[in-house]
Amino acid sequence: DRVSLWGGRFAGGPADALAALSKSTHFDWRLAAYDIAGSKAHARVLHSAGLLDDAQRDGMIAALDRLLDDVRTGAFEPAVDDEDVHTALERGLIERAGDDLGGRLRAGRSRNDQVATLFRMYLRDHARVVSALVLDVVDALIGQAERHHGVAMPGRTHLQHAQPVLLSHHLLAHAWALLRDVQRFADWDKRADESPYGSGALAGSSLGLDPRAVAADLGFSRAAMNSIDATASRDFVAEFAFVSAMTAVDISRIAEEVVLWATKEFSFITLDDSYSTGSSIMPQKKNPDVAELARGKAGRLVGDLTGLMTTLKALPLAYNRDLQEDKEPVFDAVDTLEVLLPAFAGMVDTMVFDTDRLEALAPQGFALATDIAEWLVREGTPFRVAHEMAGECVRVCESQDKELWDLTDDELTAINPALTPAVREVLTVPGSLGSRNSQGGTAPERVEEQREASKIVAAQA
Ligand code: ARG
Repeated sequence: DRVSLWGGRFAGGPADALAALSKSTHFDWRLAAYDIAGSKAHARVLHSAGLLDDAQRDGMIAALDRLLDDVRTGAFEPAVDDEDVHTALERGLIERAGDDLGGRLRAGRSRNDQVATLFRMYLRDHARVVSALVLDVVDALIGQAERHHGVAMPGRTHLQHAQPVLLSHHLLAHAWALLRDVQRFADWDKRADESPYGSGALAGSSLGLDPRAVAADLGFSRAAMNSIDATASRDFVAEFAFVSAMTAVDISRIAEEVVLWATKEFSFITLDDSYSTGSSIMPQKKNPDVAELARGKAGRLVGDLTGLMTTLKALPLAYNRDLQEDKEPVFDAVDTLEVLLPAFAGMVDTMVFDTDRLEALAPQGFALATDIAEWLVREGTPFRVAHEMAGECVRVCESQDKELWDLTDDELTAINPALTPAVREVLTVPGSLGSRNSQGGTAPERVEEQREASKIVAAQA
């Protein structure tokens, strides 16, 4: 007969089809070490409440430690008949501590408060792992920004040439977005830092167990204030899934640029061989697969978030078995980020920029037209008029297939006498960059400041 935690009121065991549907050990086994930590904390509160004597507590903790060793070495594994990680580990405990002692552990707890606690512990640990990996990507971006200080590139809006910017400014823009994701994980942790243990199935426990002691034992700074909320809520999972998806989406925006930049047409970067792939048929190919996989996996993480939110929608209080569907989406999100981010950091760190090309393209596409307009404003022309005049400069150049700095003095004054030859001082990339020296602007000294600021934020994250 199947070993279960709830056989008493049933005449027969579950149907094979139900057991197959119900089973979760193939994905929740990764919570085993957290479950055992929870059980040890629970054994200690049972002892504090007078429900275990010293020898029983010590015997139980020793058996749980042996069980943990066996889980780690693989000597203990879930059996085909174990419903979930909790069921399997209770069987393992009873095998090691005997029926009488092993059978005492479950008093005053439910898998509902257990799983809500363990899942938080798991996600809190992985929020730290993922954050460190995101910071490696941030470091790679800052490193590239540092190595290319002063290099100009075409800044774009609508993917069209807009205004010259510094390459380091552009790279740091991605770094700031990722730093906010790391901060989001830290903010999330403040809310996840609350232990549901002691909530029981939904209503709390009658056995005089102190949830605050278990919380402290498991590294939480507080115990839940509402046992129904504690066992029924999964917003901590959804929020984690959102921050994971946002991280992947931010990574995908870098990825898309890398894919574009590596094309023959852009030729902004060359990817290192160790982060490129070839083609099985076309011998010449060098493909940006890391960036493409990053772009693709962002969709997968958005799917994880969407699936989870859909599961949670309209669920009545308190625990419902639907909630077992909470784990696979975020496990997938965690696994995906933990395999993606190291490859992505390596790709960013090793890509080589064609700085001559970036510099040469920076002013093209009439990217200095705004500089003409702003120069006129500084000379006293109303911006509306200045905008018109600069636009006319572009029109003249376009019809003659030349650039703004090729306009002759006569052509300039013909457009408007306010356009004296002095305007040429802003018709260079360094002039344009240097003039944008407001905080957050692309002037070299401002970008140097933000780069140092980003390092401080990264070090504090
Ligand atoms: N395995 C379940 C889950 O992950 C926990 C078990 C709760 N089952 C129950 N019948 N109350 O949500």
